[in-house]
Amino acid sequence: MTRSGQAPPGMTRSEEAPMDHAAPARGKAPGADDNELGGIRIHDLAQTYERVTTREIVRTHALRNVNLDVAPKEFVCLIGPSGCGKTTILKIIAGLLRPTSGEVSVSGKRITGPGTDRATVFQTPALMPWRSVVDNVVLALEFAGMPKAQRRDQAIHYVDRVGLSEFYDHYPGELSGGMQQRVGIARALAIEPQVLLMDEPFGALDAITRGHMQSELLRIWEQEKKTVVFVTHSIDEALLLSDRIVVMKEGTVITTVEVPIEQPRTRESLLEHDEAIELRRELIEML
Ligand SMILES: Nc1ncnc2c1ncn2[C@@H]1O[C@H](COP(=O)(O)OP(=O)(O)O)[C@@H](O)[C@H]1O
Ligand SMILES: [Mg+2]
Repeated sequence: MTRSGQAPPGMTRSEEAPMDHAAPARGKAPGADDNELGGIRIHDLAQTYERVTTREIVRTHALRNVNLDVAPKEFVCLIGPSGCGKTTILKIIAGLLRPTSGEVSVSGKRITGPGTDRATVFQTPALMPWRSVVDNVVLALEFAGMPKAQRRDQAIHYVDRVGLSEFYDHYPGELSGGMQQRVGIARALAIEPQVLLMDEPFGALDAITRGHMQSELLRIWEQEKKTVVFVTHSIDEALLLSDRIVVMKEGTVITTVEVPIEQPRTRESLLEHDEAIELRRELIEML
């Protein structure tokens, strides 16, 4: 199938694309073809971190020669062992980190910093504890530049979307981990980005809640097709969610694998699906 005061985490004040909410083509990159809206192109990307200690400079080659294209509205999982550079790629796409060399463009436009065309969901949502569920989302919209009169309605719409209609006025401390993560997702969706970047968003959740959240994400993705880059180290999660799995090792992409299974998928159906079983076996061998 092909298919930041301080801005809140996952949301950085737009430096390059002030949003005009009256305009229909929100977040559209100048000159971008409609066909490539939300498409990501990663070309010869390399990232070397330098840590200066009293005695020496320690360099870590976190990424080398990464080339990857993600189609508009494609759901791609990045999978690979811890330390292989998954988060680094995500940070570069988000515009939070400037690569050592190479280039990344989104919707045909080179990334030079954060923008409202992209939103990030981290492993833990880091919500503002003194703000209600709805007000946490409102804050993100404020940073995204949305006019005040529209913020609350928009926030409520997305809080509903993630199934938290009964919790508008609750504070984060009154919510379970899974519910807090839903708020993080609502916050990312509310700015209506073309690209959703998710860094092990369900990694801190118990298995049962994780399963619910995966189904929920698929349901939302079916309704609001977006380009998604989802980092995980779970093969099963990648098989369940993605159109294509990008396998990484030691800072580079070793292969990409299409997942030739129709959505909607369920964990149960994948257990009996021959191609899924085979793909799972191949991925286990690679990782
Ligand atoms: N800010 C940093 N300074 C120095 N080294 C870093 C920094 N961030 C990540 N690294 C190193 O870069 C490599 C890739 O990290 P990361 O992208 O976080 O991997 P992953 O998300 O796949 O676990 C690791 O070796 C990590 O220790
Ligand atoms: Mg990581």
